[in-house]
Amino acid sequence: MRPHLQYTDNGKLRHFLSIEGLQKETLQQILTTADKFTQFGQRDIKKLPLLRGHTVVNLFFENSSRTRTTFEIAAKRLSADVINLNPGTSSTSKGETLLDTVNILEAMHTDLFVIRHAKSGVAELIARHVPDHVHIINAGDGQHAHPTQAMLDMFTIRQYKGPFNELRVAIVGDILHSRVARSQIHALNTLGVHEIRVVAPNSLLPSQVERLGVHAYNDLKQGLEGVDVVMMLRLQKERMHNAYIPSEQEYFNLYGLTTESLAAAAEDAIIMHPGPINRGLEISSVVADGPRSVILPQVTNGIAVRMAVMAMVLGGEGNG
Ligand code: NCD
Repeated sequence: MRPHLQYTDNGKLRHFLSIEGLQKETLQQILTTADKFTQFGQRDIKKLPLLRGHTVVNLFFENSSRTRTTFEIAAKRLSADVINLNPGTSSTSKGETLLDTVNILEAMHTDLFVIRHAKSGVAELIARHVPDHVHIINAGDGQHAHPTQAMLDMFTIRQYKGPFNELRVAIVGDILHSRVARSQIHALNTLGVHEIRVVAPNSLLPSQVERLGVHAYNDLKQGLEGVDVVMMLRLQKERMHNAYIPSEQEYFNLYGLTTESLAAAAEDAIIMHPGPINRGLEISSVVADGPRSVILPQVTNGIAVRMAVMAMVLGGEGNG
């Protein structure tokens, strides 16, 4: 991603498409702006007037529950007008092109599109096409990127584990098909964590994954040895067109996070998962619901982090 697509000539964040190409300062600004919004979330009246008069369209070509809902809550807490559109059920299914759909919505004076699409690169394609005053946030494109998920993960890590530079983090599971893993790896590297490990069978690792700045492990216990943060991923079966694993039972035996396999990690390690979780496939219920799991706080943090990103692209919030 070329940096100038995400920043204006004055260095302000214009679109939020991918962590790759963003400066460390921008990621830090998102975290500190989200801190402020977290405090607001604890008040009785949760609304702020920052985006009053702005129109946000949630354009979700691919299904989502938590991401779409938290974007909607975030926009409403900032007093924006929000429209949810699932184009699978509207004009695109009648043959209208992607850019035509965006043109129509733009003609209705939309200020910000939050876009999810099953194909990689769609958010960027639309960002290249829209006029200067329209902003794009990528809510997940194919296997490419899911930058707000990565930022809510960074927020949660910082909240529970403190400074990034002393942490060892393991990302476990279907790295190959995961837009979340790609964005997490870029964010963790940009924020300067001590060590990033990816743990999966070779069939679920991208080729030359170490070029991303990670250490690859095929053995779960070795990969978890001493880590402070365990980030689990779902087997993305909808993106698998071949048999990548011998069987689900075999996968759980080798890569499932259980009380036993977790024993290799640091005693106070936290367990994360972007959801949806598949109990008994990549994680046992005992671990998912256990005291070290921060899976639900991740969801809550998604609201403040998405408020921060929206406020930064649409308003002056958090921009120096
Ligand atoms: C992720 C996604 O959609 O990429 N989920 C999410 O946004 N909460 C991960 C997944 O689907 O496994």
